[in-house]
Amino acid sequence: MPPFRLARTVVLVGLMGAGKSSIGKRLAQRLHVPFVDADTEIEQAAGCTIDEIFERHGETAFRDGERRVIARLLTGSPPHVLATGGGAFMDPETRARIKATAVSIWLRADLDVLLRRVKKRNNRPLLKKGDPREILERLIATRYPVYAEADLVVDSLDGPHDQVVDAILTLIAPGEETEHA
Ligand code: S3P
Repeated sequence: MPPFRLARTVVLVGLMGAGKSSIGKRLAQRLHVPFVDADTEIEQAAGCTIDEIFERHGETAFRDGERRVIARLLTGSPPHVLATGGGAFMDPETRARIKATAVSIWLRADLDVLLRRVKKRNNRPLLKKGDPREILERLIATRYPVYAEADLVVDSLDGPHDQVVDAILTLIAPGEETEHA
């Protein structure tokens, strides 16, 4: 039996490599709700990978699709855990929708942690435009002040993901975000 019923969708925001998908999956399991990855939904809707969307149609088209897909997920689905791509919360419309309908959690990670994690895969178009360290540094400078608008902040440290999940649960479990079943 789940300990409580989630009242609102939990939206994970943060930079590439912050662990939104891997932590999100575990968090969803612990909350007994579905896990949804916005990037995967965008790829399914487009019928191709994010890399291909950037290549064929450009970043603006990707951002339009991202905004639409997240709007659909936030308005049309019962409470779930939603991992968003690193740029999603930067969009004012998406940010406002998240604030109105969900509880947002910024998974904050430092540069070295992000770098180590993103190096494992080569599927992020923004990091192919130059030196990943410099790009991530720039994104930290521009995005972290906006991510700070999220309802909650949890540090995504290098240890086991379950520690981060535990930290999230202690923040949301006793709060107004949940209703006791
Ligand atoms: C992006 C992050 C990616 C993906 C796209 C753009 C960004 O998602 O949405 O490549 O602007 O930071 P992850 O944060 O899940 O890697």
